[in-house]
Order: sequence, then structure tokens, then C-alpha cells
Amino acid sequence: MDHKSIAIDGPSGAGKSTMAKQLARELGFLYVDTGAIYRTLGLFALERGVDPGQWTQVEPLLAQVSIRMDYGEDGLQHMYLGGKDVTEAIRRPEVSGAASKISAIPQVREFLMDMQRDMARSNSVVMDGRDIGTVVLPGADVKIFLTASPEERACRRCTELRQRGTPEDYEKVLSDIIERDARDSGRAAAPLKQAEDAVLVDTTDITLEESFSLLFRTVQENLK
Ligand code: DC
Repeated sequence: MDHKSIAIDGPSGAGKSTMAKQLARELGFLYVDTGAIYRTLGLFALERGVDPGQWTQVEPLLAQVSIRMDYGEDGLQHMYLGGKDVTEAIRRPEVSGAASKISAIPQVREFLMDMQRDMARSNSVVMDGRDIGTVVLPGADVKIFLTASPEERACRRCTELRQRGTPEDYEKVLSDIIERDARDSGRAAAPLKQAEDAVLVDTTDITLEESFSLLFRTVQENLK
């Protein structure tokens, strides 16, 4: 069967996962959150007391780690680490930092590549991440680069944290975002960048609903 793939890349907090999930639902495709895979490995490093930025410390972990991903009855992607469901645990702020550091290691990216490509081989997917259009699925049917200004992303994140009952200081959230952007874009291995054939969707000045309409129209126009 001929499977379709839609690649959505962009910085953290641009609304990729919310929109990719909704898009996948509308199209009847599988939503694959690749950041969750890096987060699961980052969590493993933290659990083992390993510095996620040091390849010499991370290398032995790759032979020991067991990462699995499946879709529950709710249709949502669940991540398992050594058989334990870590879907919630990988959202903790310290895991975001660990994932960002571990994902800068080229051997780690290579190690997690097959898992991502296999998903697109056996399903029609909406896959989000940082290097999906450039490296993981360079032949994707549609490529989107979804972004918003760091300040707008920090605002959205603060609202989300407040609603969750775990408010954080705006300046701290903004500086974390800027730091993570610099690491994700500045690394040598598969840095975050817009693929040449990707369509840019900037959501800084538009609402979530408007962003989704724009995204959906763009995908429909480009999905042959
Ligand atoms: O999308 P996210 O915030 O859950 O991703 C967590 C980290 O993983 C992020 O700092 C960058 C990294 N990542 C990556 O390097 N490549 C991907 N395809 C997805 C995520």
C-alpha cells in the first residue's frame, strides 16, 4: 500500500504537537511525536545518573535501553521504557533539557532513526520533530516548518503551565526556550532548520484555530 507522510518541523512551543495531532485525526493518519522518543532516552540517562550531553557516558546505555512506542485505545502515542509507561514522566522540565542534550549526539540520532522510519514505512503518518523533512523523511509528501517568535512561544507555555496549576516565571520560560532553540539549531548533527521544499507557517500573530486552518489548507494543496 502506498503510504503518505507529512513532516512537521519547528522549534519547541510552536504548537507542532497540537496541530499535528489534529491534522492526523482529520486525515486518518497516525501521529508520530519523535521528540517523545528522544525524551524517553533522556529520561533513561537521568535515571542512570548519566550526563546526557556526554557521548562516552551515553554510549553504554544504548546497549541496555529498551524503548517501545505504541498506540493505546485512546489512539494516543504511549512511550515505554523497559516496559514501563513513561508517557507522563517524559514531560517533566528536567527531561526536556536531557532530551535536548542527548539529541545533539550524532550516534544517538542514528540509533533512533530506524524506529522513526519504520513508522512511516508501515503507516500514513503526520510526524513532528526537528529534522523530519531534512533527514528522517526527506521524501515526505508534504513538509511544513511551523514556527512562532520566542516571546509568543514563551507566553503560550506560561498559559499552559498556569492552567496545569504549575505556573512559572515568564522570563525563566523565555530564557529556557532561547537556550533550547540555540542548542537545537546550533548543533552539528541534524540541526533544526527549514527544509528547502518546506512550506513556512508562522503562527506568531494568529490564533490556534487560524493556524490550523492555514496548516490544513497548505497540506490539502500539497498532498497529491
Ligand atoms: O519536541 P520536543 O520538545 O518533545 O523534543 C525534545 C527534544 O528532542 C528537543 O530539544 C529536540 C529533540 N528532538 C530532536 O532533536 N529531533 C527530533 N526529531 C525531535 C526532537
